[in-house]
Amino acid sequence: MKPPYPMLVDTLPEAAPRERRVYFEVFGCQMNKLDSELMLESLVARGYQLTHDSDEASVILYNTCSIREHAEERAISRLQTFRKRKESEPDLVLGLLGCVAQHKEAELFKRMPYLDMVVGTREFDQLPELIDAVRAGDEPRLATEMDSPLVFSRRRNLGPQPWHAYVSVMRGCDMVCTYCIVPTTRGKEVSRPPEVILDEIRRLAGDGVRELTLLGQTVNSYGKRLGPGIGLDTLLRGIEEINGIERVRFITSHPRFMRPKLIDAMAECSKVTDFLHLPVQSGSNAVLARMKRTYDRDFYLKVIERLRDKMPNLHLLTDFIVGFPGETEAEFEESMSLVDAADFDYGYVFMYSPRPGTVSHRLADDIAEEEKKRRLHTILHALEENGRRRNLDSIGRRVEVLVEGVSKFDASRMAGRARDFRMVVFPASPLDRPGSFVEVEVESTTAGTLLGRRIGPPGSDPVMPPTVRRAPGSGVPSEPQPPRRPAGI
Ligand code: 5AD
Ligand code: SF4
Repeated sequence: MKPPYPMLVDTLPEAAPRERRVYFEVFGCQMNKLDSELMLESLVARGYQLTHDSDEASVILYNTCSIREHAEERAISRLQTFRKRKESEPDLVLGLLGCVAQHKEAELFKRMPYLDMVVGTREFDQLPELIDAVRAGDEPRLATEMDSPLVFSRRRNLGPQPWHAYVSVMRGCDMVCTYCIVPTTRGKEVSRPPEVILDEIRRLAGDGVRELTLLGQTVNSYGKRLGPGIGLDTLLRGIEEINGIERVRFITSHPRFMRPKLIDAMAECSKVTDFLHLPVQSGSNAVLARMKRTYDRDFYLKVIERLRDKMPNLHLLTDFIVGFPGETEAEFEESMSLVDAADFDYGYVFMYSPRPGTVSHRLADDIAEEEKKRRLHTILHALEENGRRRNLDSIGRRVEVLVEGVSKFDASRMAGRARDFRMVVFPASPLDRPGSFVEVEVESTTAGTLLGRRIGPPGSDPVMPPTVRRAPGSGVPSEPQPPRRPAGI
């Protein structure tokens, strides 16, 4: 796996001395990727250089994920491949960072005695000092305090795309979902003050960022403990005023905090895109109760009804877990029927993975692996079919596309994202610049992609006015359309 952040590698022409070269791999969610970006920035500020070749590096770091056992084991087994090299090269610094570090702590040194550092999710900002400390003595370092404040002052966006930035608005999770290790690995919820976030976004906009993804484990509970009147709704309204920012989305939301005033802000702010990831986890009330999700099926359906009422073009994604302890066939069928009832555009499906330290770990993991797989494929297929059908509604419509680059599958085409984050592919022109906007009329669709032709001359960068973005059923139909269910863009 290649580490990300090509910009960081490319912007450093001077080769750093070998002891300052760092190899970095990251597993897991966007939060981990952003944490990695912040860590790399602080290392680069001290003269380190990122290399894509681990043989070239004298510091090797893995930022890890614990959400499922498989993710945890993959990261550990990658690190284990450096055991031999560490024996012959004792100066090599090997570090395991992030959620697995927080979850397993000192146990990791028993499993990998050659490891130099285990750094948890709230002590990343200490990384340069920890590397120095390891080098100064030969003590392995454990840094897994949970109440350290974690202060990062971000100076610039490290990419990988210069026009897009992730911005962390809150960390941690106060929920108690019985299957989930995140509250253990990431700790209690802490929101950043709005002025600090808005300042950071103004700086990013000044550097050419046009699109933002706000990050938080339960991003829509943002503002807790910051005082009355501060929430994701007020933050979105603040971002609306920042020149240069054209699109905002946020991941990941919890149904419980999808409150009317937030839905109103989403609908009223022209920069907030028609995209929402709202994990439901199960369609069965009994399973939702065993998961301690704090809502039932009816509540979830009411939330999305309100959302679609205010945002008819919303592209709605979800997560399901299949094979939760005791999930009967009838309970699984309730998840299947929710795909239809909620009319999802897409969803991610996970087989239940018992995590030591969680409440559900004490329950028998009693659904056979083969049965979990069958349920996963069955529900994934239903989600894909639903998304494919909903995509058909976009044919003939015009969409605003933020160009990402040449299509991976066909060099004669460009690819970019519509406002609702669907991939759009259209014929390339030498004038197309990544990071610019084009308008495309959709001619055909696949399960995950819209294909179309450009409207207007290449290079004209038309940012559609808010009225066009928000028109019911928009993009704008190019010809009179038969009545459709509200869907697509
Ligand atoms: N097993 C399987 N899936 C899980 N998720 C979280 N914990 C587990 C687990 N123990 C899934 C949830 C969550 C997504 C990020 O990962 O669906 O929304
Ligand atoms: Fe995990 Fe639930 Fe918190 Fe999401 S809301 S991070 S699933 S505990």
